Amino acid sequence: MVKIFNKEDVEIDTYQIGAKPIRGCMACNYCYEHKECVFKDDVNDLAKRLEASDGLVIVSPVYYGSANGSIISILDRLFYSSHFDKRFKVGAAFAVARRAGTTATFDELNKYFTINQMPVASGRYWNNGFGREQGQIEQDEEGLQNARVVARNMIFLMKAIKDAKEKYGLPEKEETKYTHFIK
Ligand SMILES: Cc1cc2nc3c(=O)[nH]c(=O)nc-3n(C[C@H](O)[C@H](O)[C@H](O)COP(=O)(O)O)c2cc1C
Repeated sequence: MVKIFNKEDVEIDTYQIGAKPIRGCMACNYCYEHKECVFKDDVNDLAKRLEASDGLVIVSPVYYGSANGSIISILDRLFYSSHFDKRFKVGAAFAVARRAGTTATFDELNKYFTINQMPVASGRYWNNGFGREQGQIEQDEEGLQNARVVARNMIFLMKAIKDAKEKYGLPEKEETKYTHFIK
């Protein structure tokens, strides 16, 4: 994806969690009042970086049939604590595994986009690649092709949305309603 973004002159801002210790959300709701997460780690900076971006690509290895825990901790806190308008930023998710669990992980990651009115750039399969050790994915020809396709589709969508915003503006935004079943 990075190769395609570079070729098409798309500016990218990459963040890799690696081995950083990342806290999960503890539902303290500090962010309701302060508009940022109570934990002063990378999440508040990532929120600013996401606000300035037209799209977000999330890539995760598969751990026990779902996304890596640190990625979920970051995403829960990033999406819960930031309050800027995420509508029409384009999302794309990609899962990498040794063998199994990529489709569940792909679904899991896409949920951050589809709860936020973020259109999803799709590919020619459910976005996955296979490899256990670093570099092994280079042998997964189909996975690499899918990454290229997703990157091109994402660029197209971001350009189309930019033009459409100028031409039509964003759709009307409704105030959020919360259904509850306890009367
Ligand atoms: C804790 C753990 C759980 C894993 N669970 C799965 C799994 O459910 N399915 C699978 O195919 N691979 C699994 N793997 C293999 C990883 O998905 C694969 O090695 C991946 O490339 C690791 O990427 P990383 O080095 O960026 O963490 C697991 C690896 C670890 C460390």
